[in-house]
Formats: sequence, C-alpha cells, structure tokens
Amino acid sequence: MKYFLYFGLFVCLSLVSSCQKKTGSFRPGMLFPDTDGVHINAHGGGILSHNGKYYWFGEHKIAGKLGNSAQVGVSCYSSDDLYNWKNEGIALAVSEDSTHDIARGCVLERPKVIYNAKNNNYVMWFHLERKGNSYSSALTGVAVADKPEGPYRFIRSFRPDAGAWPVNVSDFHKRTDNRTKEAFSGGDLPEPIDSGMMNLIGRDFEKGQMSRDMNLFVDDDGRAYLVHASEENSTLHISELTDDYTDTRGHYVRLFPGRFMEAPALFKRDGKYYLIMSGCTGWAPNEARSAVADSLFGEWRELGNPCVGEDADLTFHSQSTYVLPVDGKEDCFIFMADRWVPENPIDGRYVWLPLTFEGEKPVLRWTDEWSY
Ligand code: GAL
Repeated sequence: MKYFLYFGLFVCLSLVSSCQKKTGSFRPGMLFPDTDGVHINAHGGGILSHNGKYYWFGEHKIAGKLGNSAQVGVSCYSSDDLYNWKNEGIALAVSEDSTHDIARGCVLERPKVIYNAKNNNYVMWFHLERKGNSYSSALTGVAVADKPEGPYRFIRSFRPDAGAWPVNVSDFHKRTDNRTKEAFSGGDLPEPIDSGMMNLIGRDFEKGQMSRDMNLFVDDDGRAYLVHASEENSTLHISELTDDYTDTRGHYVRLFPGRFMEAPALFKRDGKYYLIMSGCTGWAPNEARSAVADSLFGEWRELGNPCVGEDADLTFHSQSTYVLPVDGKEDCFIFMADRWVPENPIDGRYVWLPLTFEGEKPVLRWTDEWSY
C-alpha cells in the first residue's frame, strides 16, 4: 500500500513538473501555455518591457460568442524570457455597475501599457465601446496603476484631440458647415477630398476624433503617442500624449487618408519609424500593410505587405497587434498578431514571428517553431 502511495506521489509530481516545464521557443498558431499549463488569455495584446521584465497585457476572453465583449477585463502575464509567462491575474476589471463606462459587456479591446517616469506609474490605454453601443462609441479609455501588473484604476473614456486640428489639416476640414457626402457632390469643395468623402475631422472637431484600433509608442525622448484608427476607420491618426500620458494634447497628424487601416503596430529601427497594419475586415484576416517615415509627423511611405510565402495575403491567418523590440538583442523584433476565433474567442491563437528587414522593407516569413 505504502508503495502505491509513493508511486502516486511520484506521478503527481511528474505531472506538475511537466506542466511547468520551461520552453525556449515560439510555436505560432499553436496553444501557448502559461507556466500553469493553461493557454494564455491575452488577446489583442501588447508588451511593456520594464526593469528587466516583460509584461503582456491583453483582452481576457471567455468561451462562446459572449466572449467577443468584455466579461472579465484585461489580463496581465509576466516573463523574463518571452517564452515562459506567469499569469498575474486581471490587471483591469470590468465594472458590475451597468451604467459604468467599462461595464461588463462593453467592448474593451487592444489594451496597451506604458511606464510614465514623471509620475512613476503605469498607464493603460484601450479601445472602448460602451455597453450596448456596438462599435459606434469609438472611444479610447485610460487607466493607471502603481505596479505594472495592476490593479489599474479606470480614469475616463473620451475621444482624442477635441477642439484641435491635425497638423496636416486641409481647408476642406476647416469648413464648419458639417459637409456630408451629399454636399460634397455639389462640387464646390476644394481638393483634395479624402477620408471617404466626408469631412469627419470637421464633424468631430468639437467632441473629439473617433478612436478604434489603437497602439501606444514611447519615443527615445520620452514623448508618448497614441496611434489609432479614426474617421470611421478610414484614416490613422498619431496623437501626442500629455506628459503624464493620460490625455492627448491636440497635436496630431492624419496618415494614409481613405486607406482604411486597422490594428496599427508602431516601432522604431535605426532612427526610422515603422508601422505594420491590417486592412478593415473585422475578425477575418486580410493582407497586412507596412510603412516607413523619418519622423512621426513627417511623410509616411507605404511599403506594401511585409508577409512573404504561402498565405501572405492573409497575414498567415492573423492580424497585427504589436511589434516588440527584444531587449539587449540588436535588430531583433517580434511581430505579434492574433488569430481570432469569434465563435469561441478564448481559443484565439497568437502568431508571433521574427520580423526581419530587406533594406528598409520589413519582411515576415512563416515558421512553425523558432527562437530569437
Ligand atoms: C477588427 C479589429 C478588432 C475588433 C474586430 C471586431 O477589425 O481589429 O480589434 O474590433 O474588428 O469586428
């Protein structure tokens, strides 16, 4: 009997240790177990690299279609090596008060966190659609915490850059008569007319610009920026943040007017700024886009689809969410994307691939398993 007990104990210990076995590689599209052996639940995510540790924030999803709305909140995982992730729990919880901005059942997507040195705190931004509003609120939300893993305190939701014109505003936008497509067809408006032919910048001038898919970027000088899909998703905006990183300051630029880009991931390499984005086809994958600029508010040049090989036209069945420069490794970038499963969102997979460059062009090739 005693031997059976010892044998049982041995089996249990081996099972526990096999669950916690460390890994040293990425397997794009496969289950991505955390250190408890459970598939990581942090979709549409981004990484904060801070004090030698990585923190992965993402949308916590539940099983079934209800999981496409926020039922729990934002998850946080931590790691020393990017391969092995410890579940740190819920960093920002949804509210049980149904009138709250982040009430359970709202849409809370693509959370990103940056560290603010001035206030020595952590600032989270996300795309928010109020409960019951489908995707019509087009808001951004902000929350702060004293520790990277949270808990985060929700501050407010708003539309960025209210009452400010973009640096590249055209005369067309400054017309205050709320021109619509119909008025445009009258033919008396100056060129160029872009962004789906409606003056959305002018329309939303007072209340702030629409903000859906988004990302954050902190430049070498400590200035932080929100890059987001605005103007009914037709045009990306880059908006500079205030010093405490909790607001926009009305200094912003419109990029790729009328090109309908989503899921922007912004990063810097060799002094140049890069964006990798998707087109707008909801949960279904499409062909990625890329672009480069010498300055954030300067001329952006599109460089086409960075993906090469089979299923390149579908971004290998995924959609961008973040590009991570790996600490201490020269010219080492990880492209992070989501393979969405809208029928059962908790089963969404992560596609992390090495991002390489051919000249100035970013290139992504599929690989079943890899290490950086
Ligand atoms: C995608 C977007 C996702 C989510 C989805 C909803 O285009 O990137 O974050 O909003 O649409 O259909």
